[in-house]
Amino acid sequence: MNQETKVGVLGAGSMGSGIAQIAATKGHQVVLVDLNDEVLKNAKSKLEKILARLVEKGRLNSAEEVMERILFTSTLNDFEGCGIIIEAIVENIDVKKKVFAQLETFVGENCILASNTSSLSIASIASACQKAERVIGIHFFNPAPLMPLVEIIPAVQTSDETKNDARKLIDDWGKVTVLTKDTPGFIVNRVARPFYGEALRIYEEGLADFSTIDWAMTEIGGFRMGPFTLMDYIGNDVNYTVTETVFAAFYYDPRYKPSFTQKRHSEAGWYGRKSGRGYYDYTEGAVQPEPNKDEKLGKQIFERILVMLMNEAIDALFLNIATKEDIDLAMTNGVNYPKGLLKWADEMGLDNVLLKLENMLNEYGEDRYRPSPLLRRMVKENKTFY
Ligand code: NAI
Repeated sequence: MNQETKVGVLGAGSMGSGIAQIAATKGHQVVLVDLNDEVLKNAKSKLEKILARLVEKGRLNSAEEVMERILFTSTLNDFEGCGIIIEAIVENIDVKKKVFAQLETFVGENCILASNTSSLSIASIASACQKAERVIGIHFFNPAPLMPLVEIIPAVQTSDETKNDARKLIDDWGKVTVLTKDTPGFIVNRVARPFYGEALRIYEEGLADFSTIDWAMTEIGGFRMGPFTLMDYIGNDVNYTVTETVFAAFYYDPRYKPSFTQKRHSEAGWYGRKSGRGYYDYTEGAVQPEPNKDEKLGKQIFERILVMLMNEAIDALFLNIATKEDIDLAMTNGVNYPKGLLKWADEMGLDNVLLKLENMLNEYGEDRYRPSPLLRRMVKENKTFY
């Protein structure tokens, strides 16, 4: 595949239109399909505005040139001649399987069929196709044109050719690609769970309020956004569903247990920014709560969440979900973590990380705090990741 390859994108929602923007900017002819004409109209006018702004900022020569390369359409027939189709429709396995089976009838033998799913099994989606070896996961992050990371997820059925061609294309688009196993949450949505889960747990134990936990993670930890600000930004409904899906998909491993606090916020309609209220109040003139800026408490909160994140990253490596380099790249490029977690664990001292986890395991007696066998082994053998 090269710049001449015609790229199809299915679904013109936030992800699909972002992916179409990237491909068209890189010089591809793009076919953007959505069943809903209203969505297509909106996608077109939004893209026009985004491209115009890029031209103003001097980051793009011509908005018209890019727009001319995109065909906005509601007919799957227009996918004819595409070398790759990236699907970004509703996150529902039955719908995706039906659509993938349909797609195959509109494209040539060699067209790659990719899904942008965040949480569904690529093997299951591929099983709907006659030529399952052409199916792969290509997972962008929101907003797709801005976030550098893309997870490449071959299913058990995916051929090496599909994997290599897909990865090369996305690399050529200037993205940072990482290769990950077809397991729940891939790298980022698996490793990042404690950022939310442990923060919620700290709140539930009454150790600190939302703003203090957010303050600890940003001011002491150097994270760009605190967990509660981030959950309010993502939407508590969306974030809760991802947690619940990952929890179930891991056969109810207590490490991923969802939180009642988040569930109740979601049930109350306190989704966050989009509903005007979440953990914080977003109505105009609302006064935001002041954090308790106790350094000792802040450090405790930050380190507790951090070692849980590190343990998750180490366990992903233990289970060969991805290489150590890719696990670190994924977290710095997909969710803007200030450092790769494995590199950070080396710096903190693996014996120190293990000790903190063991202390929590002893105190709570919950499997949630069990250290990864790889961490124990590394400490025993006095090794570091890098
Ligand atoms: P969205 O709801 O903004 O857009 C989905 C679009 O697909 C809608 O415009 C809808 O009209 C269209 N659609 C639904 N069924 C269709 C069909 N059968 N044929 C053609 N079009 C159809 O959703 P969003 O947020 O863009 O997500 C799309 C996919 O990307 C999901 O699988 C989601 O899990 C994944 N994803 C979402 C991220 C996010 O932060 N929103 C991040 C990474 C992946």
